[in-house]
Amino acid sequence: MDITQINKIAVAGAGLMGNQIAELLARVGGYAVVVVDVNDSLVSKGLQAIDTRLENLFVAKSKMTAGDKRQIMKRIQGSTRLEQAVKDVDIVIEAVLENMNIKKDIFKRADDSAPGHAILASNTSYLNITEMASVTRRPDKVVGMHFFNPPGVMKLVEIPRASLTADETVETIKALAVKLGKEPVVCMDSSYGFLANRVYAPMRAEAVQMVWERVAAPADIDNAVKLGYNLPMGPLELSDRIGSWGIQAASEDERLRELGEKGRIHPLVRMMIRAGYTGGAGKKGIYDFWKEVLSKP
Ligand SMILES: NC(=O)c1ccc[n+]([C@@H]2O[C@H](COP(=O)([O-])OP(=O)(O)OC[C@H]3O[C@@H](n4cnc5c(N)ncnc54)[C@H](O)[C@@H]3O)[C@@H](O)[C@H]2O)c1
Repeated sequence: MDITQINKIAVAGAGLMGNQIAELLARVGGYAVVVVDVNDSLVSKGLQAIDTRLENLFVAKSKMTAGDKRQIMKRIQGSTRLEQAVKDVDIVIEAVLENMNIKKDIFKRADDSAPGHAILASNTSYLNITEMASVTRRPDKVVGMHFFNPPGVMKLVEIPRASLTADETVETIKALAVKLGKEPVVCMDSSYGFLANRVYAPMRAEAVQMVWERVAAPADIDNAVKLGYNLPMGPLELSDRIGSWGIQAASEDERLRELGEKGRIHPLVRMMIRAGYTGGAGKKGIYDFWKEVLSKP
């Protein structure tokens, strides 16, 4: 399918990533978009998040008129019925919870109801695309389209291709990413964490180990990599901010399966989780754990 043939796109999941991706597709791409979630309240919450963001980041800063905002919002519909939502779309972008069984269910249902030419893409951060494709009758049209948070700002879109993804599918998704102002990078889906997350994970693991060894305080370790490698934020501060300590703990079984011993969660992260230092909005993380627990004898 040529990029010029894309008119309508469904986004499954109206959560943090899904609603931001839907906004990008409607605002930058100019596409008709339908956002799907499991109930009306989650759909409304997602649509409201888009409206608020357009208001605060664009209208309030005179980068867009109220009329422009209305036009964008008009292009985005909400739905709780996936089968109906995908029946006239050219692409489905799945952004539901990071759980293979839920994703496979979405891919199976989307495959049953979407037009034969439609591409089925996943925004998964880690999970295997070939496994998602295995429940469809169109493995050649299944591919990853991994945006980074926040998708409106971050330039990178990873395109992990599954074993049977056709070149044409990859090219269409690449062209779509470029149209949205992104810089796509294609890779194989055999890499757990694809490219950026896979390279990043060992740095974060080493930083945790250094806190454990009391080499330096978390802020000093972050400062060293920030200043030494010109990163905007250190790995410990980032995990505290986005609350990814809990996610690392929750995905330990899967990481052990994919990565062997490298996937094991650090004892320090286990201690933090037990004490409720998970990071995330309004929650304590490794910076607090260092101050309040670890730096004491
Ligand atoms: N959060 C991030 O920084 C980030 C970055 C890149 C990629 N991702 C990936 O994006 C995906 C979504 O992550 P998120 O952070 O937006 O999660 P989220 O929890 O904010 O949103 C997920 C949404 O999916 C919905 N959902 C669950 N089952 C559904 C179903 N059967 N049909 C429709 N909707 C359903 C949930 O109700 C929820 O609203 C995950 O695969 C994640 O790994 C996340």
